[in-house]
Amino acid sequence: MSSDLLTITGLGVEIAGLPVLSEVSLALPSHGVLGLVGETGSGKSLTCRALMGLLPRIGGKVSDGSITFDGTTLTGLDESGWARVRGRQIGFVPQASLNALDPVMTVGEQLREAVSHLDSGAEVKARCLELLELVRLPQPQEVLRRYPHELSGGMRQRVMIALALAGRPRLLVADEPTTALDVTVQKAILEVFADLRTSTGMSLLLVTHDLGVVVDVADSVAVMYGGTVVEFGSAREVMTNPSHPYTAALLGARPATRTLGERLTTIPGVPAVPGQWPDGCRFAPRCAFARDECRAVQPALLAVDEHRARACHGWLGTSEEAVVHV
Ligand SMILES: Nc1ncnc2c1ncn2[C@@H]1O[C@H](COP(=O)(O)OP(=O)(O)OP(=O)(O)O)[C@@H](O)[C@H]1O
Ligand code: SF4
Ligand SMILES: [Mg+2]
Repeated sequence: MSSDLLTITGLGVEIAGLPVLSEVSLALPSHGVLGLVGETGSGKSLTCRALMGLLPRIGGKVSDGSITFDGTTLTGLDESGWARVRGRQIGFVPQASLNALDPVMTVGEQLREAVSHLDSGAEVKARCLELLELVRLPQPQEVLRRYPHELSGGMRQRVMIALALAGRPRLLVADEPTTALDVTVQKAILEVFADLRTSTGMSLLLVTHDLGVVVDVADSVAVMYGGTVVEFGSAREVMTNPSHPYTAALLGARPATRTLGERLTTIPGVPAVPGQWPDGCRFAPRCAFARDECRAVQPALLAVDEHRARACHGWLGTSEEAVVHV
């Protein structure tokens, strides 16, 4: 684990006294790509926000565990400490950032503002152009002069990624960067990430609902449910041979697994939300394999083999039994 760039261990987060994350553990090596998946409300964005030191100012706090980046413990940093990390060591593309650009400033003005904190004088313009080239925006000189409303959604998202890269981060955290973009643009953005990994050597933590994307681009994956990580390990192993019933159910519920005319599958019940987490395993009310032990004791995230860890007391069923047909 010492070679990992990022390590999150037993992270707990509270908002206004309510636990919203608990026992979140994952790791990401240098130059690696980690996919973070799970149903809506499972805690993906809060994990990213904790990692960026951007929990809600009023009432949001890390209550347990630690986040270590490149040997430095981030949890417990004061604002000046976070300012040295955020945007410099770790870049962030927040969820729903497609419309987050300032509508009354040109792309050039916004990029210059980000870059001028880090580069100086004549280097600023060159760096702005370099950033737009890194995210493969054609005609970067022209794009610098444009306002956000003059760009397509895909171009705006590339500008957001360019802004996040301004500080030459070693890790980029991208929270659903391709949601709301059509498939060809999604593919182009994912190619940008692949290029960046090669050209800059940076690591990527990619939040997505698209398990196909995880298979295509991630080395490892963390599956979240009810504010915790239920399975973590090699993306190839986890996505092809899940060891947790929730992962199996998520994979089984993908429309891509069905052919035209075949019944879709779903996970029965509703996701566990903060304040209503059940005792024991949080997935138990929806799990086809739940038994008394599951309802009594919350399983810890433990290694199953050299490729992955899971938080489950053990299940004997098949992946097909983890989902229901609708
Ligand atoms: N500021 C907040 N105050 C109170 N509860 C919050 C706050 N932000 C998030 N939560 C709750 O914490 C849980 C996890 O939220 P989070 O945004 O991390 O989910 P997510 O996995 O990113 O979901 P999605 O896929 O919809 O983006 C949710 O139940 C959400 O309602
Ligand atoms: S611990 Fe029990 S209820 Fe939870 S996922 Fe495993 S088998 Fe299902
Ligand atoms: Mg989210």
